[in-house]
Formats: sequence, C-alpha cells, structure tokens
Amino acid sequence: MTDGVTTDRLLVRPPQETDRARFLELFQDEAFMAFAPAVLTPEQAGARFDHMADVCRTIPFGKQPVVERATGRVVGYTGVDHIEIDGRDRLEWGYRFVPEARGLGYATEAGAALLEHAGRTYTGELLAIIDPGNGPSKRVAGKLGFAFWTQTTIDGDRCDLYTLRVGQA
Ligand SMILES: CC(C)(COP(=O)(O)OP(=O)(O)OC[C@H]1O[C@@H](n2cnc3c(N)ncnc32)[C@H](O)[C@@H]1OP(=O)(O)O)[C@@H](O)C(=O)NCCC(=O)NCCS
Repeated sequence: MTDGVTTDRLLVRPPQETDRARFLELFQDEAFMAFAPAVLTPEQAGARFDHMADVCRTIPFGKQPVVERATGRVVGYTGVDHIEIDGRDRLEWGYRFVPEARGLGYATEAGAALLEHAGRTYTGELLAIIDPGNGPSKRVAGKLGFAFWTQTTIDGDRCDLYTLRVGQA
C-alpha cells in the first residue's frame, strides 16, 4: 500500500471511502464514461468502486483517483485492472478524466508518475485496450511508451491492443 505519487499538478493515490460518492457520480455520468460500453447503474457503480479499492489493496498501481492539487477535486483515475484475454490474466492500463480536466496533459502526467512507481514494484507487461477511433487515448498511450501490438475484438467491439514492459529489463 502506498500514500500515492505526487506530480507538479496532481496527486495519484489509492481510493478512500470518502471518494465513494464522487465515483458513484462519475461512473453514472455519460461524459465521464465516454468510450465505455455504457454508464453504470448505481449498484454497478458501487460495485466498481469496491473493485477499484480491492485491486489497490494488492496492486500499488491499480486504477486509482487522480486529485487536482490546486482544487483538491478528484478529476479522474488511472492505473491497472485485471483482465482475462485468451484465458490469460493480464494487467490492463487505463485512464478516464472529467471533460473539464481533459486536454491539460493530466492523463500523461498522472500516468507517467504511476508507471514509474509501478516499475519499482513490478516487472512485466501491461496492456492498453483502445477503441481505434479514440484519438486522444491513442496519443496518451504513445506518450506513455505503449507500442501497438495487435487488433482484436472484445465483446463484439473492434479494439487496438498496445503493450508496455515495465520494471527490470
Ligand atoms: C483519453 C483521455 C484520458 C486523455 O486525457 P487527457 O488528460 O486529456 O490527455 P493528455 O492531455 O495527456 O493528452 C491528450 C493528447 O491527445 C491529443 N488529442 C486531443 N484530441 C485528439 C484527437 N481528436 N485525435 C488525436 N489526438 C488528440 C492532444 O493533443 C494530446 O496530445 P499532445 O500532448 O501530443 O498534444 C481523456 O480524453 C478522457 O478521459 N477521455 C474519455 C475516456 C476515455 O476515452 N478513456 C480512455 C479509454 S481507452
């Protein structure tokens, strides 16, 4: 467990119970959930928050809140979750920010800091799964060092897979 990582503008830290209401609101918000299959119901949103907290109890770079230091507001999340692809458990890197916090370099700033932290505690490959039409996400993945691997179909949707190796060479 970690207290999180700090950058010039952001604090990236594990979820706390006091974040629950904010994430319940965000997971049900259409704009926040752009490029997700759907917004979540209140029950699904609560379960997603619980899952985020669970993952962060075992993985210090699990998907976690990104706090804008100037305002103290949770403006998004970044980090990994478990995903099974072709029968193999992998770690999938993701990010999602509120519309007013997009285009400021936050996904890259938060991601780079958390990835550096990840590389100190974990050695292995991370995966990013991106809708081919999601230009900003592809750009962020590239800036974080992810390289295009292959194209596949997940739950009927075409998506591009990118990989990044972290940790010891
Ligand atoms: C994807 C997302 C997390 C990016 O966050 P962000 O903090 O705005 O990202 P950054 O500011 O670090 O970088 C965005 C980059 O995309 C570029 N960009 C913006 N619009 C673009 C477009 N339509 N096509 C291609 N690139 C675009 C920006 O110019 C910037 O690149 P640059 O720094 O080289 O100029 C944010 O847009 C978001 O939350 N989107 C909705 C949820 C989502 O799609 N999550 C990812 C699912 S895979």
